[in-house]
Amino acid sequence: MASAVSSLSTGNGNERFNAEAANWDKNPFVHEASKLAAKAIIQQFPALQKARPGRPKLDVLEIGCGTGLLSCMLAPYARHYVAVDAAQGMIDVLKTKLQRSESPQNIIPVAVLLEDPEDRHLPPADENEPDGKRLKFDLITSHLVLHHIQDLKAVLTTMLGCLKDGGSVALTDFEDAGPESKRFHPQSKMGGVERHGIHAETMERLMNDVGFVNVEIRAAWSMDKTVEKFEGEFGHEAKAGEPGQGVVQSFPFVLCMGERKWCQSSDGS
Ligand SMILES: C[S@@+](CC[C@H](N)C(=O)[O-])C[C@H]1O[C@@H](n2cnc3c(N)ncnc32)[C@H](O)[C@@H]1O
Repeated sequence: MASAVSSLSTGNGNERFNAEAANWDKNPFVHEASKLAAKAIIQQFPALQKARPGRPKLDVLEIGCGTGLLSCMLAPYARHYVAVDAAQGMIDVLKTKLQRSESPQNIIPVAVLLEDPEDRHLPPADENEPDGKRLKFDLITSHLVLHHIQDLKAVLTTMLGCLKDGGSVALTDFEDAGPESKRFHPQSKMGGVERHGIHAETMERLMNDVGFVNVEIRAAWSMDKTVEKFEGEFGHEAKAGEPGQGVVQSFPFVLCMGERKWCQSSDGS
């Protein structure tokens, strides 16, 4: 059955990200964007600040981790850091990275299109019961992923199901700030792009509809990117920065936050 969650399941996105995996980390923009995402997330979540390296305590899930740029920055603040991506190529690059002695040793890389909080690819809640309930998380992150998700409501429902009571999501992506946002991707990289950024009001409504509480969509940072002056300017290879090509455009990013409410007692208190 075709998945409703992501165009990745139809192949076009997966092929693109598998093909790009080996060269992903050569792009300075993705490093800078991940650094700014880590900074924004750490600032907003005091529990991460308190869990200093060496005193980690949070269970964190990242959906769409790619080669693990954000994962490696946040993992020192976590107990378990489960890094999920639907593209096997991305996870293979992350696995190679994790063999280096300086890499965080608490990252668990998983290649899966996550659609079910009880997916057997996720670690078990109790190591003594490998076939039992799956681990639930204090924090779920994703960065530059939501614009690839076809059915945002479905993926948000999965995220809600993966959280512990009182757990939070912290999702970063560029904002749909109007027609100019379409220029974030060159024409050759439109495969698998479901929307041109996150529309703050739509996202807030969706998160509330799904059942998150304390929802807040916050302007987080802006980044300059060299974009095509006209569709197709960069050609098939999408190489920006050839002399005379492209124009610099600033893109605002949002941090989408929400919590899973604490279990209520039968009298609603
Ligand atoms: C633009 S890349 C961003 C990768 C990484 N977060 C970064 O910033 O370097 C988007 C990634 O999301 C993954 N992805 C998209 N939808 C997904 C889903 N439903 N489940 C898991 N991974 C997904 C893709 O495979 C791809 O690697």
